[in-house]
Amino acid sequence: MPNEQDQPKTVKTDDASGRGTVAGFKVPFPGRMQPYTEEEINVVVEVMRNAEAQTQGAYLRQFEADLKAYIGANHAFAANNCTNALTLASILCRVGPGDEVIIPGYTFCATAIPFGKTGAKIVWADMDRDGWLADPNDIERKITERTKVIVVTHLLGMPANMPAIMAIAEEHGLLVVEDCAQCPGGSIDGKKVGSFGDFGCFSFHGAKNKTTLGEGGALTVRSDEDAALVPGLRHYGARPYPPGRERYWVPCMGNVDIDIEGVWPNNFTVGEAQCALGSVALKDLDRTNDTLIAQAMKYRAAFADIPGLSFQKIPEGYRHVFHTFVMHFDGSAFGKDRNDLLDILINEYKLRCIAQYYPLYHYPLFQKLGAGEHACPVLDEWWNNSFSLPWYVGHSDETIDYVISAVRAAVATLKSE
Ligand SMILES: Cc1ncc(COP(=O)(O)O)c(C=O)c1O
Repeated sequence: MPNEQDQPKTVKTDDASGRGTVAGFKVPFPGRMQPYTEEEINVVVEVMRNAEAQTQGAYLRQFEADLKAYIGANHAFAANNCTNALTLASILCRVGPGDEVIIPGYTFCATAIPFGKTGAKIVWADMDRDGWLADPNDIERKITERTKVIVVTHLLGMPANMPAIMAIAEEHGLLVVEDCAQCPGGSIDGKKVGSFGDFGCFSFHGAKNKTTLGEGGALTVRSDEDAALVPGLRHYGARPYPPGRERYWVPCMGNVDIDIEGVWPNNFTVGEAQCALGSVALKDLDRTNDTLIAQAMKYRAAFADIPGLSFQKIPEGYRHVFHTFVMHFDGSAFGKDRNDLLDILINEYKLRCIAQYYPLYHYPLFQKLGAGEHACPVLDEWWNNSFSLPWYVGHSDETIDYVISAVRAAVATLKSE
């Protein structure tokens, strides 16, 4: 039986992340991925007691230096969430009406919305049958003379095939934005995601592998020119007064100024407590990821002999950090499908499984906004039979064993019916 102690005491029963524990389920699926460490709690209190600035102070500068070093990026900026990091990237890509942006059909909606809002046309990339992420061959097929940007998502914790995608982008002169929200610390041959493309966008939302008090994000930037624009775009164009002015107070609101034609600046900044926490959390990220990887490997080994169940194929050299644990179930050999399996897992074994992510072009939001057109046959076929297990870094061995026995029993029931 699942262990009640898996459930952190402070987790509430609902949460806008959609991960909130729902009454009646046996396996905890709390609203955040990990309990805070004592060091993380202490640093937030320390900022509350002693920080000189509440925002854009020494902790922001330290967090950005830590992110840059950890990711191996040329430049790193903290932001208040990944959606706004993607918004900053979309602005810096200078896309708009008449441009095309290739985006995976299989990703969370926040990958696409900032680009859709620019007025550019979204062209959906199909998934690759083995890795379940954007297929470089399909990306290349969909490039036209209007294509300006390729957006890739390292979804579920697995790095996308960046060597292939960067080679395509270089050949066609395209920008690359990496959505790293679900893959902090993921890497290919030791090179971290967020350091391949022109921009990398990270999330420290509560449901992510590490969080900065529920919300948070970061943007990595390759070019020095673009990096110079981020502080202004992120904070109303405000910048320090030029030194040596006789009357520093003219104009007295700060120098609101933006170097990109036609762009409104915004406030995408993040407070000092979250930055201080971010620096400490970053030190713990590899350990958290190792725990998630170990849990995932336990499931993969335990399910390896179950007919019809399959997993993402992880290429040699890829560090997949298992933000979620998604499987595919092909029960056609015995006339069953994913929904039959979930009916049993959810109703009989009380496992809060979910089917995610619905291909974005099927959502009315994207269809109404003119982004319903698609040619993604692999994703269309695959999606109907994918699902994820309840997933949380603190699951006990007992809970994991319960999940394993439930999945094994449910498939056996389907086979025998
Ligand atoms: C792939 C992906 N991109 C972007 C986001 C948006 O992140 P945030 O909530 O920090 O804006 C998420 C969050 O779930 C995500 O999973």
